[in-house]
Amino acid sequence: MKALVLAGGSGTRLRPITHTSAKQLVPVANKPVLFYGLEAIAEAGIQELGIVVGDTHAEIEAAVGDGSAFGLQVTYLRQDRPLGLAHAVLIARDYLGDDDFVMYLGDNFIVGGITEIVGEFAGSRPDAQIMLTRVGDPSQFGVAELGPDGAVVRLEEKPKRPKSDLALVGVYLFTPAVHEAVAELKPSWRGELEITDAVQWLVDHGRKVESTVITGYWKDTGNVTDMLEVNRLVLESMTPGVAGECSGSELIGRVVVEPGARIERSRVVGPAIIGAGAHVSDSYVGPFTSIGADCRLSDSEIEYSIVLPRASISGVGRIEASLIGHDVEVTPAPNTPRAHRLVLGDHSKVQISS
Ligand code: DAU
Repeated sequence: MKALVLAGGSGTRLRPITHTSAKQLVPVANKPVLFYGLEAIAEAGIQELGIVVGDTHAEIEAAVGDGSAFGLQVTYLRQDRPLGLAHAVLIARDYLGDDDFVMYLGDNFIVGGITEIVGEFAGSRPDAQIMLTRVGDPSQFGVAELGPDGAVVRLEEKPKRPKSDLALVGVYLFTPAVHEAVAELKPSWRGELEITDAVQWLVDHGRKVESTVITGYWKDTGNVTDMLEVNRLVLESMTPGVAGECSGSELIGRVVVEPGARIERSRVVGPAIIGAGAHVSDSYVGPFTSIGADCRLSDSEIEYSIVLPRASISGVGRIEASLIGHDVEVTPAPNTPRAHRLVLGDHSKVQISS
């Protein structure tokens, strides 16, 4: 069995971070989100991995290399344009050959791995096995409608009026039958070859499609809110440890200080991680914060945020619920007269701090 990881695409919802970086490399607890997927694939006993890459191929290749650090043999498959998840399968056709494969979306985060589902699939070999989970906003996802016996009846990509709250999770298992389906597809209304339509094709042609409803934690990290939430979750289960230097500072709760990091006259309340070579001085780092490698934080407060490597934040008061890109500089603005611009409805009550 092989794996196919999708790490192309454009990442519009994480702009401007994704103008310059691959969305799959945004770090969660200082480790790219993609790496959690690669670890899950290796843990499931799969060794051969194709990674579909687009414009950000150089960055992905630099981060993952030949895959040996994960126990994987990686082949990069270049997709010229992000023409859809099924298009990625199409361009991977030769690489996949006649092997069964698990397709894993590189920006998905699943707690609990995929070992169990890969084992289940290998046992019964349906033509497709999909994972579903209940969500509050199904119109943002592929949505499945199940029959009374639990069989997959209909799948729809980002429907305006979802027929259920069961969203497709970004892990799919296929036999080579999927290639027949993909070869028949036409682009959807959004101009993409949809994997959702390929699975529907298999259902319509009487092929065996199974679904597993998962109850564990899953997030598509395509937007900032979800990214911060996944970061929170991972930090909560980290093993604390101080490999860097701390002076005149207080570390409270689950805090990881990576090698070469320095914390001076500061207070860090976990769960939080301070990256290798980072320098934190006269500052407060609050819960659910990841400070990347070689960052500088001085005279500032930050909480519930992700800061990418080499960013510098100095003298700016409090930052919350933020995603700060690498090499960013945040500094105070010169004092300017303050004014409020308001459009208030009749009978409004407003409190403004002076
Ligand atoms: O996250 C689960 C959802 O993923 C499913 O519920 C949907 O049915 C499925 O279509 C997909 O929707 P998204 O809109 O979230 O997909 P996105 O465009 O974000 O792409 C997912 C990953 O695949 C991402 O890492 C980028 C990569 N990709 C995407 C496209 C369109 C490629 O490598 N090539 C592509 O052509």
